[in-house]
Amino acid sequence: MKVCFLQFNPAFGDKEKNCRAVEDLLKDVVADIAVIPELFNTGYAFLNEKELVNLAEPASGETYEFMQRLAQGKNIALAYGYPESAGDSIYNSMSFVAPAGIVATYRKSHLFFEEKFLFNPGDTGFKTFEYAGIKLGMLICWDWIYPEAMRTLALQGAQIIIHPANLVTPYCPEAMVTRAIENRVFVVTADRTGDEIRGDKKYHFIGKSQVVAPNGDILTRAGEETCVKVVNVEPELALDKKMNRHNDLFLDRREDLYFT
Ligand code: ACM
Repeated sequence: MKVCFLQFNPAFGDKEKNCRAVEDLLKDVVADIAVIPELFNTGYAFLNEKELVNLAEPASGETYEFMQRLAQGKNIALAYGYPESAGDSIYNSMSFVAPAGIVATYRKSHLFFEEKFLFNPGDTGFKTFEYAGIKLGMLICWDWIYPEAMRTLALQGAQIIIHPANLVTPYCPEAMVTRAIENRVFVVTADRTGDEIRGDKKYHFIGKSQVVAPNGDILTRAGEETCVKVVNVEPELALDKKMNRHNDLFLDRREDLYFT
């Protein structure tokens, strides 16, 4: 199975331009699944709730329509982050869109910094879903810092974790190597690049999107450039939780000793 990430610098507030950027980046790409950064269609540095409300859209909105057409035209599944409006709530969400339509939507559980004043905490929980015969799990950016989040997905059988991000702290790329090893799963992180300076908000996004294998090998890692990296992975490797003849990572867990 071929997975890839797209790394680029979205233009704040310009959904059409950002959707076109994805289309351009995917032009010559042949892959099964493409992971696209958190909030890729709008950018990150909302000054206030009003800006967010104006840019948010339902999971089935115009961004979905564009992505579904793109998925169909290229016969690829697209996982992308966007601000989702649902009733009176706005979530920092991602959808996994196959050529035939939405397969799953996840709402970010752990909000980072001032996201807490803008978004509702996600209410979807950590659920896996099946696509092309394999189990996938979804996390968004800051969810990485809670080992419980990926563990919950891995215990349900997730083989590949797809992880759109807007990373502003330096820790995630290395930490994800440990997450991959301790759960024996593949992890695809699609981060953005660039700076957003708006009002008193100033963010630098670190790039370093990557694909990590269940043994911790970094199969590819970007710098801060705009790029697409495609990697061939064998998802069945993630079904084997044995570290050696005597240690199975999941069977050896001492649930009786852990706080829940
Ligand atoms: C983040 O969760 N966007 C750092």
